[in-house]
Amino acid sequence: MEPTNAPAKPQFSAAAQDEIKRIITHYPEDRKKSALLPVLHIAQAEFGGWVSPEVQTLVAETLDLKPIEVYEVATFYTMFNLKPVGKHVLEICRTGPCMLRGSDELTAHLERLTGAKVGGETSPDGLFTLKEVECLAACGFAPIVQVREKYYEQLDTPENVDAMLTELRNMVHRPILPWEALAQN
Ligand code: FES
Repeated sequence: MEPTNAPAKPQFSAAAQDEIKRIITHYPEDRKKSALLPVLHIAQAEFGGWVSPEVQTLVAETLDLKPIEVYEVATFYTMFNLKPVGKHVLEICRTGPCMLRGSDELTAHLERLTGAKVGGETSPDGLFTLKEVECLAACGFAPIVQVREKYYEQLDTPENVDAMLTELRNMVHRPILPWEALAQN
């Protein structure tokens, strides 16, 4: 008999399963691995913003891959989180143009305001995780922070930084995920 305290094996929601099936149809039958990046994105969004080893195994089973194939990809791309994260992951661009427009000061400021540490601890209130990333392709609006699909631009003034943090703190509900929106229609 299964021990009752065994952690529940992660399962995709019905909406996510439908979306994964739809994505897989974009590729030849024997090339399911091509769907790995979008499926990892779905997994990360579905399971609290990070891909645990158990979630990586689920992705592997879903795409008929070996867990190591998923691990190799999940650890290569910085957009996948391998540890638990806060409610909002702030990806701070640190590449040249953003650096020239104050990304170092912005990073230090965000650390002070949130209590989180870049590449380290989430803020004590559990709201913010800070990551440094490379160019987000919006150099004309530097310095930039990306949070999920949204870019916060020109964060070189305290007012703009405060407005971003206030908006994120006031976000009671998590945004509807694209495949959940599809399922509602
Ligand atoms: S350098 Fe920051 S968006 Fe390009």
